[in-house]
Amino acid sequence: MNTQELFVLPDGVITVSYIVATVLFILALGGLSNQETARRGNWYGIAGMAIALLATVFGKVSQNYDLLIVALLIGGTIGIILARRVQMTQMPELVAVLHSLVGLAAVAVGFASFMDPDKKFTGVDLTIHDIETYLGVLIGAVTFSGSIIAFGKLSGRMSGKPLTLPGRHWFNLALLIAAIWFGREFVMQSAAGGGLDSLIIMTAIALVFGVHMVMAIGGADMPVVVSMLNSYSGWAAAATGFMLGNDLLIVTGALVGSSGAILSYIMCRAMNRKFLSVIAGGFGTGGGTVAAGTGEDQGEVVAIEAHEVAALLADAKEVMIIPGYGMAVAQAQHTVHEIARVLRDKKVNVRFGIHPVAGRMPGHMNVLLAEARVPYDIVFEMDEINDDFPDVDVSVVIGANDIVNPSAQTDPNSPIAGMPVLECWKGKTTIVLKRSMATGYAGVQNPLFFKENTRMLFGDAKDTLDEVFKAL
Ligand code: TAP
Repeated sequence: MNTQELFVLPDGVITVSYIVATVLFILALGGLSNQETARRGNWYGIAGMAIALLATVFGKVSQNYDLLIVALLIGGTIGIILARRVQMTQMPELVAVLHSLVGLAAVAVGFASFMDPDKKFTGVDLTIHDIETYLGVLIGAVTFSGSIIAFGKLSGRMSGKPLTLPGRHWFNLALLIAAIWFGREFVMQSAAGGGLDSLIIMTAIALVFGVHMVMAIGGADMPVVVSMLNSYSGWAAAATGFMLGNDLLIVTGALVGSSGAILSYIMCRAMNRKFLSVIAGGFGTGGGTVAAGTGEDQGEVVAIEAHEVAALLADAKEVMIIPGYGMAVAQAQHTVHEIARVLRDKKVNVRFGIHPVAGRMPGHMNVLLAEARVPYDIVFEMDEINDDFPDVDVSVVIGANDIVNPSAQTDPNSPIAGMPVLECWKGKTTIVLKRSMATGYAGVQNPLFFKENTRMLFGDAKDTLDEVFKAL
């Protein structure tokens, strides 16, 4: 017996392992949907992936272990370094890069599968395999180039402004028709022993489409794009599973594809956007803070000192804390927790109001608050607390801007028009913590800052909150 065959697991063991991994992935998704079970969900996912990898390495591979080990070591090392280095605020761009790798893998597997000299398909089987290969490469290439552009935009290496070419919808339609036509050519040529040219041309078309699609999407819609690319990467993996005849990859790809699609839908709803209009692109402006003064003159703002904030909080009965992207930048979550703890000891009812797109990724604020060990039962979703603001004595807006912008409700021309927002201005007093009068992610001025019952506490949120904490 060849020594390498000693490692090959029997088919039954592989099948059972794949079923166990699938169940663990489903449990992982279920766990991740709630912050109290998210940690457990992560462990299910890790266990499922470990089982899937072991079953594949020892069950499907029977040669070239040396190459495999080198690839695993390189990939694993890069993964560990990236995961250790990445800041919470850079998470979406890391996710975009990882999606691009899934897309690239689908393209590589598609070409390898097509050019495999030992391929044994004939007749209808060959046609089906060719269609799987074509779709896998198509989705993979769109995911790859689209994710690279998303990474460029999210990391600020490229402008967040939407690129709205004249006749861009016609251009997209022409690319789609060309991809379908070359698909037909590919299947016909492949039956006669050719087809590589058509596959290469379609790959180029798909790469251009991915670039153009994401270039056309404005900064404000990038969160939806990231989850949409997440969904695409899942479908690319599922197509790869069909190509390789690997059931686990099909199921896992479908889980990622459908959960990404559901997340895109939820985020569209949270931002009051239609999914199709996001894909069509052209919405939203720059991806970063813009200097003060954009928009018309809104009046004067009233500044406040940290010790005055402490006094207001200590006298309050109902306090609502609204964290946003700036809390993540300042890493102020631990001080926020300390302040909440002191106030709760003084019998103040402290709650956290979380907007679904606060920060830069879904669940961003929940993760930070969980890290700081803020009790889950005082953290509420926007829909749960938005009607309670008239009874709130003090709302503390920590590094949030777009998610508390009343112009989403009042200005139909605003880029965030129609996005549901936390209506903190309906409370008695709102305190906004930020460093300057700069705008938020969507690049629009915020009338909240100029309201009579709003006070601005300027400075880095961590520094100002430290002062408030000391004063308390
Ligand atoms: P933003 O509207 O981006 O506002 C953040 C504010 O934090 C800025 O105005 C900034 O003002 C302030 N800030 C930054 N660093 C700070 C610091 N060290 N200390 C104090 N303040 C600081 O954030 P948001 O209200 O959380 O809204 C999120 C936005 O991001 C939405 O437009 C959303 O669509 C978009 N987005 C969301 C996601 C997801 S999925 N959550 C992903 C991508 C984009 P200063 O510069 O004056 O300090």
